Amino acid sequence: MKVVVTGGAGFIGSNFIRHVLRAHADDSVVNLDKLTYAGNPANLADVGHDPRYTFVHGDIADAKLVRDIAAGADAIVNLAAETHVDRSLMEPDAFLRTDVFGVFTLLEAVRELRIPRFLHVSTDEVYGSVATGSSRETDPVAPRNPYSASKAGGDLLALSYFHTHRVPVVITRSSNNFGPYQYPEKVIPLFITNALEDTPLPLYGDGRNVRDWLYVVDNCEAIDVVLRRGADGEIYNIGGGNEVENIALTHDILRLTGKPRTLITPVKDRPGHDRRYSLDCAKIRDLGWAPRHEFAASLASTVEWYRSRVDWWRPLKSGEFRAYYERQYGAR
Ligand code: NAD
Ligand code: DAU
Repeated sequence: MKVVVTGGAGFIGSNFIRHVLRAHADDSVVNLDKLTYAGNPANLADVGHDPRYTFVHGDIADAKLVRDIAAGADAIVNLAAETHVDRSLMEPDAFLRTDVFGVFTLLEAVRELRIPRFLHVSTDEVYGSVATGSSRETDPVAPRNPYSASKAGGDLLALSYFHTHRVPVVITRSSNNFGPYQYPEKVIPLFITNALEDTPLPLYGDGRNVRDWLYVVDNCEAIDVVLRRGADGEIYNIGGGNEVENIALTHDILRLTGKPRTLITPVKDRPGHDRRYSLDCAKIRDLGWAPRHEFAASLASTVEWYRSRVDWWRPLKSGEFRAYYERQYGAR
């Protein structure tokens, strides 16, 4: 299979490319990535030499480039996106451009070139905050921030291309991922690296918001299952089954890094902060997928990864990141 992966230099994308090259000896991967602040070629340093892997620097909203790259592909897996909720509150333009218009550009290429599969990676955030119970794929979308609204826009456009043009679209909606190579603006790598640097952990609001944590390798395996066995026009939820309050997660991280709870610094809440996400994953379990990684052990191995890869994350926490962090939390 010749797979075009977009956003493959990011967190999930790089883990996904590594998974495909390991799991499928006959597959080749073309990685199209714009290398925004979140894209990092170092995430794929170990596969750069593989003759089955090609990197192309470019934008999914560039129609000509997308068509040139996608010609002859068996599938496109779209992981390119603007992904950080806090940034979408400050600078939403890029979210609309990539998460909506970029998806449109890919859909047009898939339609024109008759590519047999378009897997669009989405998020549990499109269902909005869930007070009780769990979201099913048939539930309406109810996004509440510019990031999740942009993602919902991309999803609806993709589904419209299935219904009107029979474009072979399939969508995954996963819960919060964690693991190696996650950019240190997201809560787990931010809190681990801040703790390792003995700097404050900025906990939003009352710290009681709930996220369902999914180890990134489990998500990559699920995306791969849906890529090969999912039905056209369908959505598949992918959850870890680990719903944890932020304050409990923070205590776990401090215990694993051996740092004191006095590092916890309550800060003002994220505007419109969704309280809880929760997914019903019966549908993807019917495809034969279940998460293989236990939460406590995976969090511990993730802490060890960041402890051993200071070379990877410390450069990321200067320059652009520092400017972002100071806008977000003030100078320290
Ligand atoms: P990330 O921010 O780590 O990486 C995004 C990648 O996309 C980067 O390499 C970036 O350079 C690239 N990119 C951005 N705009 C682009 C453009 N216009 N053209 C080409 N490349 C572009 O993101 P991630 O956490 O790996 O998320 C990947 C996908 O998974 C996203 O669609 C996101 O919405 C979804 N998702 C993420 C999570 C999570 O917890 N991280 C959970 C559910 C869904
Ligand atoms: O649910 C899936 C989504 O998970 C993905 O679609 C997004 O791309 C991804 O960024 C993530 O969104 P969240 O907003 O849930 O993740 P984040 O790591 O930003 O925040 C997780 C929780 O931690 C959330 O309740 C806010 C809180 N938080 C976050 C940061 C960055 C803090 O308390 N302090 C912080 O400094």
